[in-house]
Amino acid sequence: MKKQLKQLPLVAGNWKMNGDIGSAEELLTDLKAGLSANAPKCEIVICPPFTLLQHVGKLLNKNKYLYLGAQDCSEYGVGAYTGDISPRMLSDLGCRYVVLGHSERRTRLQESNVIIKRKAAQAIHEGLIPIVCVGESLNERQEGRAQKAVQTQISRSLPTGVEPSELVVAYEPIWAIGTGKIPTTAQIAQIHLTIRQSLQTKCARGYESVRLLYGGSVNPQNVGEIIRIPNVDGCLVGGASLKGGTFCDICLAY
Ligand code: 13P
Repeated sequence: MKKQLKQLPLVAGNWKMNGDIGSAEELLTDLKAGLSANAPKCEIVICPPFTLLQHVGKLLNKNKYLYLGAQDCSEYGVGAYTGDISPRMLSDLGCRYVVLGHSERRTRLQESNVIIKRKAAQAIHEGLIPIVCVGESLNERQEGRAQKAVQTQISRSLPTGVEPSELVVAYEPIWAIGTGKIPTTAQIAQIHLTIRQSLQTKCARGYESVRLLYGGSVNPQNVGEIIRIPNVDGCLVGGASLKGGTFCDICLAY
């Protein structure tokens, strides 16, 4: 059997609904300056809002560490879907990644596992790599149901038969997002192991090399510890990705 090559870790910055042309330019200038002095040992993905994708894509151009990602996409290829953005349109703009199933969309917009799975399949079909987010609520954590909740999301929101390089999974406990709270290393290790094992039924082969990211209050101070946790192959960063220097420090921890 052919051995799967281990992929580089991935650090993704999810800007959420933040930023404008001016702040994007400033952020990218700072990030690129930091990276020009020190070579990171990871892939870096910038996920700005749709309105900034084209501009940020141009700013990233020719930097070998930096990739462009979107924060959502349609489950459809093309057609009468007012307001939607298809994965093909994102590919056309130079996107390589797309964040899907973020808890802010699952909770606020009632995005279901079924829809997330369709979006992921469509994204893969168009050559994008979905970063599918999963994670338990505080209630689920406190009632001892975190593992089961994440297993269910993995089972229902990921397509089957995928190659390990076609998919990224991000574990983002809802209670750790934007709160400064972070699970213990043992808790992260346990959920990441659960995700890894659950991927056996999803991947055609090589489930061991699918990249699993941790997300939720990651910052330059705690990233060093997160990196060393087994089955953590990168991180998905929110607030700390909005300053070029801070995000650069996180990337250079790799
Ligand atoms: P914070 O890093 O701000 O906690 O956000 C995490 C997140 O939701 C990234 O997608």
